[in-house]
Amino acid sequence: MNEIVFLNGSYIKKEEAAISPDDRGFLFADGVYEVVRVYNGNLFQIEDHVERLAASLEGLKIGGIDPNSLVNISGRLVFENRLQGKDALIYIQITRGVAPRTHAFPSTPVSPTIYAKVWPQDPPREQIKKGIKTILVPDARWDRCNIKTVFLLPNVLARQKAEEVGAGEALFVRDGMITEGSASNFAAVFGGTLVTHPDGGHILSGITKKAVIAHCRETGMDVEERPVMKGELTYAEEAMVMSTTREIMPVTSIDGESIGTGAPGPVTRRIQKAFSDLIQKECGQSI
Ligand code: PDD
Repeated sequence: MNEIVFLNGSYIKKEEAAISPDDRGFLFADGVYEVVRVYNGNLFQIEDHVERLAASLEGLKIGGIDPNSLVNISGRLVFENRLQGKDALIYIQITRGVAPRTHAFPSTPVSPTIYAKVWPQDPPREQIKKGIKTILVPDARWDRCNIKTVFLLPNVLARQKAEEVGAGEALFVRDGMITEGSASNFAAVFGGTLVTHPDGGHILSGITKKAVIAHCRETGMDVEERPVMKGELTYAEEAMVMSTTREIMPVTSIDGESIGTGAPGPVTRRIQKAFSDLIQKECGQSI
């Protein structure tokens, strides 16, 4: 079947999509992106993605785009690719556009490049059930990690390092503090309290994390938004990573040291159940 993608206003066959080599996304990683979940053919937490996309565009001063267009583009892509009733992922990337290579923004404004695609993908159920091993890596990123830019080299290298040692995720450490995963947020449980890094320039403000915090607070569970220190990890009862693609994934070990019993714990399971209920409520399907 022909894969239909969105490029600069048109829905076209993927093999017909062409982007200029002068695109600033290609030359400078001068662009932002979003990854949206589709459950049962329905867009999940789309308003949050629109809001974050707007903030990312603002952060890079990319204008001339209505972030709300993400909703229509995503919905139409699901339709065009006959993914109604399916689980899928949507990727959308917006760059500053095409211009002769010079570092400063183009002196005559250019239109941003907008590309989006969707592909069928179920949640990684096995890992969500059993948990993953993780490793720690130094966080060498800049201090505007709240902007979801396509400059992901530190994340790519960290994740590759994890792959090479059979770990499911790499966790960044900055000044002895765990910031987040290479493509996920991180939380640990101490004395029944969920501890996770506060939003700000050192992490991406994850939409999954936001839902988890809201659920914990609504159900009376204590949440502390402060960084987990590397030295505290031996006392953690449970740990987890959270993202659009991984949902809530238990972390069973960090750098070879078991977390808690070394198996997914009750708090993680409770949060997973709440997340599954949220999916059911919004999209009519649970994991
Ligand atoms: N990444 N932190 C980083 C560095 C991320 O790349 C992501 C998600 C998250 C979690 O955010 P959210 O819950 O909104 O998905 C945190 C996406 C899935 C990716 O790059 O594929």
